Amino acid sequence: MTDAAYLLVHGNREYLLEPGTEFGTDLGVLDIPEDVAAGDSVETHLGTVFEVRELRGPDLFDHLERTGAPMMPRDIGLVMGLTGVSAGDRVLDAGTGTGILSAHLGRVGADVTTYEIDAEFAAVARENMTVAGVDEHVEVRTGDLTEELDTLAESDPFDVLTLDTGDAPAVVERATDLLVSGGHLAVYSPFVEGTREVVLAAREAGLTEVETLETIQREMDFSDRGSRPSTGGVGHTGYLVIARAP
Ligand SMILES: C[S@@+](CC[C@H](N)C(=O)[O-])C[C@H]1O[C@@H](n2cnc3c(N)ncnc32)[C@H](O)[C@@H]1O
Repeated sequence: MTDAAYLLVHGNREYLLEPGTEFGTDLGVLDIPEDVAAGDSVETHLGTVFEVRELRGPDLFDHLERTGAPMMPRDIGLVMGLTGVSAGDRVLDAGTGTGILSAHLGRVGADVTTYEIDAEFAAVARENMTVAGVDEHVEVRTGDLTEELDTLAESDPFDVLTLDTGDAPAVVERATDLLVSGGHLAVYSPFVEGTREVVLAAREAGLTEVETLETIQREMDFSDRGSRPSTGGVGHTGYLVIARAP
């Protein structure tokens, strides 16, 4: 796909489709007009009506092509809320992976430079940014962020630094060279060992307000029998370290 895409929805069926494309479903073939817009309806050749919707943030997690394990919506919410990222902020991010976090950052109008070490993943992420309609806000660079730190430290400082890689501590060590005074660091780590390394690196680097959270969420079930936390699903996803540049 090369253009921003739309969701075509009928009941619980949802397809992410680009204007001017044709797509076969079990309910018939969808022929998406070039000038399709959110709010339109498109009929399959068998007469089933699909509603056309704009892609919204939570749809990114369900529909973008996946490579590196994407950050879950609740963790994205924490990163955005705890860093206060907003329109016009300069954000440095790694690794891009699927690009779910980058796309969310781009959707609020932040200007994101994101690094992905795997060239194939980077190519998918670029396409995902186009599909998500944020390619003007998100620049996906192929490369190892740890090797770009000297160059980046020479450029304009960033307002927010978001990291989701095993080698995040090596970047955290240089965070004060990369961030504006008061700028935020957010590091997501799936394991507590990596999280501890991040915290130690943040302290060593002289970052302030270093705070670590385990991201847990309990879904609630409401049935005729009673109400209780869901017995299924994933409660724990990882740890988030937040800190600020002095
Ligand atoms: C867990 S995924 C990131 C997911 C991403 N936050 C999202 O929401 O879709 C981690 C990615 O970081 C990449 N990576 C690991 N070390 C890196 C580095 N030093 N520089 C750039 N990318 C790196 C990996 O190839 C992988 O795709």
